Amino acid sequence: MKKTMVCAVMATSLICLSDAFAAESKGAAKANGAVEHGRYLVMLGGCNECHTPKVFTPKGPQPDASRLLSGHPASEKLPPTPEGVIGPGKWGAVASAGLTAWVGPWGTSFAANLTPDATGIASWTPESFIKAMKTGKHLGEGRQILPPMPWPDIGRLSDGDLRAIFAYLKSLPAVANQVPGPVPPANAAK
Ligand code: HEC
Repeated sequence: MKKTMVCAVMATSLICLSDAFAAESKGAAKANGAVEHGRYLVMLGGCNECHTPKVFTPKGPQPDASRLLSGHPASEKLPPTPEGVIGPGKWGAVASAGLTAWVGPWGTSFAANLTPDATGIASWTPESFIKAMKTGKHLGEGRQILPPMPWPDIGRLSDGDLRAIFAYLKSLPAVANQVPGPVPPANAAK
């Protein structure tokens, strides 16, 4: 009788333990799932086109996997923009070779560092990211986010999808890169 009781108690605690493990691994799987879903959306959203510096290969420019989504490289000196090419009936914008800096009627904009470094999104919360994408305001409450950042399209995603994108960005290796602030049109790179 005593033996059976001990077994019964042991069996219950084993079940409890395995339940706890299951809950924990479910949580981890959910977090992992969000990161994976975020990676998928970032690929589809073309974020690397503008936010990842490029390496130049015989097959053309490729995203530099060692600096994924780290934004316009602070050390990159931009060549002068050819005079008089942008305007009505002319070109809409001119991009740097790595597509991380853009000159247009809005001035010069530089793709942000989206890695979890202090110079990137370390201090951002999922809420500030979602608000920025939905309002087009820096960090959800600052200045207007400039072209060609496609926030009006990205901001149409569900909060769950935006949270997954943010979870993926937070999972990236941190890259220290202080991206320059935008340059207004009068002083834009000429
Ligand atoms: C066509 C180029 C382009 C694409 C594609 C692009 N971005 Fe951007 N992004 C920019 C530029 C340029 C800026 C800087 C704008 C500025 O300084 O106002 C920026 C800024 C940002 C910012 C900073 C917003 C803020 O509050 O200051 C975030 C976050 C961001 N992009 C996320 C993304 C994500 C996520 C994707 C993909 C789903 C993406 N971007 C795709 C060009 C792009």
